[in-house]
Amino acid sequence: MAPTETNKPAPPRHIAIIMDGNGRWAKQRGLPRTAGHAAGAESFRRIANYCRTLGVEYLTVYAFSTENWKRSADEVAGIMRLLRRYLEEALQDMEKNKVCFRFFGDLSKLSPELQKLCRDAESRSTDYDVQVNFCLNYGGRDEIVQAARRFAQDVAAGNRQPEELTEEILSDYLYSAGVPDPELIIRPSGEKRTSNFLLWQSAYSEYVFMNVLWPDFSPSDLDEAIAEYHRRNRRFGGT
Ligand code: FPP
Repeated sequence: MAPTETNKPAPPRHIAIIMDGNGRWAKQRGLPRTAGHAAGAESFRRIANYCRTLGVEYLTVYAFSTENWKRSADEVAGIMRLLRRYLEEALQDMEKNKVCFRFFGDLSKLSPELQKLCRDAESRSTDYDVQVNFCLNYGGRDEIVQAARRFAQDVAAGNRQPEELTEEILSDYLYSAGVPDPELIIRPSGEKRTSNFLLWQSAYSEYVFMNVLWPDFSPSDLDEAIAEYHRRNRRFGGT
């Protein structure tokens, strides 16, 4: 790994985070769950900025899963409102902040207004230092199913042969096409599950589970996760 000017090892190119613990953070304070998500959105802003200063190229966050629709209508609306507000602001500051966006997930279930913000953010994503990938109405299994379906459609249309399918070609049908796999996946809040997040892309990722709740997750927690990542010996199945 190449050392940076400060002699710290270079951070992973791609970090992914399951932003977990917003509900518990709110409960501890006697606040509604939406207040926890609002604090979680603030935490995301801080960490995205910090990733940019560290030189992380890709930050992927689990903002809303295919299972999260089971939550109360109030809570779902609260999360969608926070995303809308964030994207409206981000669209204004995109050039200044040098952040660009991709969205992983089936966006067709989102409100037309939010879909438009996502499309605008993606289409204006050209010159940037860090790319944020928002997983929205995202599920890892769902992503693989839709990739398989689109490959099958290409076969049916005569554009592909079944035996052409390789890991690289399947990757090109995923939401994450063109994005390198994350080297590091962080899950705060003490839970130790993957929860259907980046199932394909995480084949060789290092997982770091931490006890801090997402709204309290600070740049020094990210430093700690990166330090843990560097302590691990990544062998990719070799010796
Ligand atoms: C998981 O915590 C968190 C979510 C399902 C939603 C994450 C959404 C945000 C952080 C806000 C999105 C907006 C922006 C701008 C990033 P949980 O609610 O499951 O927490 P719990 O396990 O403590 O109940």
